[in-house]
Formats: sequence, structure tokens, C-alpha cells
Amino acid sequence: MSSSNPSSALRKLKVLVVGSGAREHALVKACRRSAMVREVIAAPGNAGIAEEAKCHAVKADNVPGLVTLAKEEQADFVIVGPEVPLSLGLVDALEAQGISTFGPNKKAAHLEASKVFTKNFLLRNNIPTAYGETFTNSAGALAYLAKKSLPIVIKASGLAAGKGVTVATTRGEADAAVRAALDEGAFGASGEEILIEDFLPGEEASMMLVVCGEKFLVLPPSQDHKRVGDGDTGANTGGMGAYAPAVVVSKKLMSRIEDEIIRPTLAALAREKIEYRGVLYIGLMLTPAGPSVVEFNVRFGDPECQVLLPLLETDPIKILWDCANGALDPAAAKLRPYFAATVVIAAYGYPAQPRAGDVITLPPAENLPAGVDILHAGTARRPDDALVTSGGRVLSVVATAPTLRQALDAAYATCAQIKFAGAHYRHDIGARQLDREKP
Ligand code: AMP
Ligand code: GLY
Repeated sequence: MSSSNPSSALRKLKVLVVGSGAREHALVKACRRSAMVREVIAAPGNAGIAEEAKCHAVKADNVPGLVTLAKEEQADFVIVGPEVPLSLGLVDALEAQGISTFGPNKKAAHLEASKVFTKNFLLRNNIPTAYGETFTNSAGALAYLAKKSLPIVIKASGLAAGKGVTVATTRGEADAAVRAALDEGAFGASGEEILIEDFLPGEEASMMLVVCGEKFLVLPPSQDHKRVGDGDTGANTGGMGAYAPAVVVSKKLMSRIEDEIIRPTLAALAREKIEYRGVLYIGLMLTPAGPSVVEFNVRFGDPECQVLLPLLETDPIKILWDCANGALDPAAAKLRPYFAATVVIAAYGYPAQPRAGDVITLPPAENLPAGVDILHAGTARRPDDALVTSGGRVLSVVATAPTLRQALDAAYATCAQIKFAGAHYRHDIGARQLDREKP
């Protein structure tokens, strides 16, 4: 065994996980299970994470505060969950202090932070994506819209927590979306520049890769459920549930995605001197003409992360550490032949105005069936120690099993035992795939 190998099993890491959602709870749990980790701490974390890791009250967008914390705590490795600290340069700041960090640097994080940057990157590199044009004033945008057919898609360029996109089916809706962003400041600075792009028909799928320069590990394809209501109805959310592997991405389709999207993207990043290390999340539309890029995110999806980590046979923390240290070995990573599903339980009023403070009752951990985890997102402890809601997405119930049906049954059986006023969740997570499996 070589001692120069950064993932030498002898090295025991103190890890700081940045973020406060169920994605970060899943990462903290992976740290707890990892033979490479001696201690895990989190910032800011949530009530569930606090049961497994010391939480420090530093917000995920406080870059100087996080750097100070990592130094004071002598963290060996920082895993960044959400996009905001990545776009603010947290990775650059930590690496400048000599602290290994998992996540792309600020320049690479542009792939998520600016939809205009990404659209131009894709178009100039001939990577399949919907044609789009950029506007900063409404007169020009409205004139362009008048020439286009419907449906049409209007996007705020900057980060808007999943709320900056309108798929307009009428001219009134399209014009209103343009005016809201450019004239009314509905998305603040994130909407001062907009993208108007052609509508892509098809089914969506998410591909997450662990990328280290031009080396990449493809994680199983997954599908998110963005609308709040069953049957993809109601408002858009951060994601109400996910499952993986999504068989809609067949082996054949996967190799097309690799050839037409993944390899050209990584080659273009290298050509353009954008060093990428971290998760690259490719949001795809599977159109009749082939796979097409809808968006890039520069981090694990939430809730997709919760269903991908349980499918790794190889220690996920080893993969992330090796990636951060330039030693990713995609061929060495092994997957488990399972299915994983997660159901997100949301607070009353989510996504518009989630209510905080509802008391949550959970089944005792020892009663959970094998392969089931209750991950916390918007949860907090009241001074009297009661567990209460404190955010829109409250819990993410994850189950892993040999079949998707079993995973979903286990997840839903656990959801039925979780109680709080106003709790709601979708009842059709994974239904598309179950339908596809029907003879
Ligand atoms: P985005 O934040 O860019 O991923 O967009 C949010 C959602 O809007 C996507 O998950 C799609 O459901 C939808 N969407 C975005 N762009 C398009 C497009 N060009 N055609 C069809 N639907 C789209
Ligand atoms: N689940 C979608 C996202 O994380 O952006």
C-alpha cells in the first residue's frame, strides 16, 4: 500500500459538511459510515444532523465565517452541499488556506449561477441544448417573443432557488414573465438578464457525475418530481421526491449522453480553462431527437443525492476525497444492484409560504425497517426540545431495496407514521417507472 495515496485507509479525516438540507443529512450519514472519517461537523445543519454531528451556527452563504470555522476546527476536508457558497467562491477560499474541499471553484460554479453563461457555452461548443437568446431590456425581449411560437421558456439568468423559470403556453404568460423579471425586479439581480429559449418536448432525467477534470464517474440516472402535487400538478418546488436508477435512461441512451453531452462538455471546459472538480448535475430533456441539456447544476441535487449515495457500494466519502485531491478512479467505483426512492414531506403552505413551528412526531428509529432512513431538512428543536418544522421541505424519507416497488412501499409505510399539522407529500413518486414496468 502506498502512503502517498491520498485515500490511504490510514488517513482519518475530520469533515465539515456545509448546508442544512436532507442532502447534507445524507452526506453526514455517509461520513458517519465511512472508515476514512474520524469526526464530522456541520454548518449550519438541522435538528436531525445535530443528532449525528456537532452543528455550528454559521450560515451556508457566510464564506469568511465558514473559512474561520474550518480553520478553528482543523477540518481536513470540507464537503459543500448547496450552490450558493460555491458561486460565492467558498472552494477557492478554503483551498487558499490549504483545506481540501469537495465542490467546484467559483469560475466553474458559473455553470449554475449564470444560465446565460451556460447557454452560450453549450451553443458555442455544439452541445445539444434548446436555442436561446439573452435580453436585458423588455422591449427587445417582447419583440423577440412576438416572432416565436409557443410554448416558449423564459428564465432569469441568475440563481433563483428554482423559481426563475416560466414555461409559457400563452403570449400573455410569456410577456408577463419578461416584464416580471426585467421591469418589476421579481428575481432581483438574478433576473436583470433573462434567457428566452425554445421549448423542448420530452421527459426529464437527471444525470449526476463526479468530475475531476476530464475524468468522470457517472452515477445512476435519476428522476426528480418538481411539482408539488400528484400527477405533476401545482406549483414548482425544490423537488418533492426522486428515485434511481431511472430506467428511462437505457444503456443505449446512456452511451449517447456520454458521447454527445458528457465528453464534449468536459473537453470544452478543459479547452476554456475551466477546472472542474465536484459533482456536475446535468438536467436533461429526452426529446424525440435525442438527449438535450436543460441545465447544469454544480452540486448534488436535492433530493437526488439522497437516492444516489445508498446505491454506491464504494465509500462515497472516498470518492469525494479522491475527486477533491485529483485522484478520482472512476473504474474502481462499484454500485449496488438496488433501487432507492425518497419521498419529501413538506410543511403546510409549501412552496408558497411554508409554516414553521409545527410539532413533528417520528416513529422510533429502532422501528424503521431495514434500508429506510428519515433524513431531516427543515427541522429545528424548540427550547423545550420538541422537534418542529422550520422550513418548506421538512423531511426526506429514503428507502433502498432490490426493486423500486419495494423501496417505494417501504418509504410510504414510513411516511404514514410521520405526523405533523399540515404535512403533505406526493403519493406518486416513481409512478412513471412502475407504469413502464407493467407488462
Ligand atoms: P431549469 O431551472 O433551467 O432546470 O428549468 C426548470 C424546469 O423548467 C426544468 O426542470 C424543466 O421542467 C423546465 N424547462 C426548462 N427549460 C425548458 C425547455 N427549454 N423546454 C421545456 N421545459 C423546460
Ligand atoms: N432537485 C433539483 C435540484 O437539486 O436542483
